[in-house]
Amino acid sequence: MTTSTKSSAQTGSPQRRRNSAERRYRARSKLRRRFAGLLALGIALVGVGFLYAAFAPEPQTAQAQGTPAQLRLGEQVYNNTCIACHGANLEGIGPVPALAGRSPSYMGRQLFDFQTGARRGLWSDLMKPIVAKMTAEDLVNITAYIASKNPPAADVRQTARAN
Ligand code: HEC
Repeated sequence: MTTSTKSSAQTGSPQRRRNSAERRYRARSKLRRRFAGLLALGIALVGVGFLYAAFAPEPQTAQAQGTPAQLRLGEQVYNNTCIACHGANLEGIGPVPALAGRSPSYMGRQLFDFQTGARRGLWSDLMKPIVAKMTAEDLVNITAYIASKNPPAADVRQTARAN
């Protein structure tokens, strides 16, 4: 207290210069502390962002209801047996209908009807041998996989027109 009173009286004295340098230094280190805090916060936020990106669940369509195991088995069957006619993106080719993202109960019913012969369309004979030996479990796996795939935007419009 006495020092500051003295220093204000001695304008421009070495004592006052020292004091103002000290004040500047203190202000700067306060600013530095604040900046370091902000920097740490920024780094923490970026870190949380990376963690979220690494562990975020895959986006799924509304009809994706199968377990990961069912989806995996369904995908295997699709890639081995169906891909040649229904396409790499389940988009259908010519008279072969698109399957991506379609209702699992409807798809399951169609496969069952191909098996029993209840569905007898112009092209149904192509499907009959495919499903002949499939079990109910196979049908559940494959329809779960089909439903989990997002249809390409263009195919949504095609399906809507065709129906
Ligand atoms: C040899 C070509 C071929 C293969 C292989 C094939 N399909 Fe098909 N699929 C067709 C054709 C053609 C139709 C249309 C049948 C009709 O109109 O009656 C069809 C129809 C379907 C339908 C009915 C779709 C609807 O709109 O009603 C489903 C579901 C289906 N296939 C699933 C499968 C699955 C699952 C596999 C593999 C296990 C498979 N297909 C393999 C040719 C094929």
